[in-house]
Amino acid sequence: MAEDDVQRSDAHGWSLEGRVALVTGAAGGLGKAIVAELHERGAVVHGADIAGEGVFNADLSTASGNREMVAHVLSTAGRLDILVLNARCQFVSPLDQFPDAEWDRLRAVMLVGPFFALKAAWSALTKTPGGRVVVTASVASYGGARQKVACTAAKHGALGLVRVAALEGAVHGLTINAVAPGWMDTALMRGQLEAQAANRGVSIDEVVALFRAAQPGNRFVDVREVAAVIGFLASPCASGINGTCIPVDLGASASA
Ligand SMILES: NC(=O)c1ccc[n+]([C@@H]2O[C@H](COP(=O)([O-])OP(=O)(O)OC[C@H]3O[C@@H](n4cnc5c(N)ncnc54)[C@H](O)[C@@H]3O)[C@@H](O)[C@H]2O)c1
Repeated sequence: MAEDDVQRSDAHGWSLEGRVALVTGAAGGLGKAIVAELHERGAVVHGADIAGEGVFNADLSTASGNREMVAHVLSTAGRLDILVLNARCQFVSPLDQFPDAEWDRLRAVMLVGPFFALKAAWSALTKTPGGRVVVTASVASYGGARQKVACTAAKHGALGLVRVAALEGAVHGLTINAVAPGWMDTALMRGQLEAQAANRGVSIDEVVALFRAAQPGNRFVDVREVAAVIGFLASPCASGINGTCIPVDLGASASA
């Protein structure tokens, strides 16, 4: 059988039995749902986060934190097949008052860290065809959002990382994709709602109503809706999807 036929013969099935996965931001709202989804599909799942129990604790804004995380999984599990880059932090402020340190921190967690994680995991992910990387992007990967200059710039950059890695990974049967969630009611979102309410001088309930109304269906996206798409992208049947970003935003990106 020719090599490409061998790869295509794997291109079916939803099961992640026998696969080892690593999820960053695993103690967060979406991270927990991703861990559950991949586990349900049969993968052995390792989580990493700067805080939280039952996960590998590391500061993933640094090169060393990302290298140690990958080394830990490889020494524990002996392999790594699926990498989900999902950690994030947020800071909201008008651009002219945006603290330099927050600009650095947000970019480090959401763009620089994922680069180091991918680089550290590359040889394990490309050892055999079928490796998978999924990056949590955002609606902020496509458009500007007032008071979120660092997050918006980092999330735009993350798509550049995904595209280049996808082109270079394809020859190894590795796929790299992103998902772009709309607003989800997680801890991170709650902090942001409070900051937006203070900055706009309105109540949290009013800000919640504004965020909900910005999404078709007038609701938040459920973290399980996003995790399900990540689970699909991580599965064998998604082998033909590479270098793209799938919105999970209830249709928000469909409006002009
Ligand atoms: N919540 C939303 O509305 C929304 C919208 C669009 C995209 N997203 C994306 O979804 C992903 C998950 O977000 P969430 O809503 O679950 O947020 P969350 O705050 O609940 O989880 C983020 C996790 O990242 C971890 N983290 C932060 N800094 C870290 C560091 N230096 N090292 C290691 N871990 C660190 C936090 O401890 C936290 O557990 C993020 O990539 C985010 O950008 C979220």
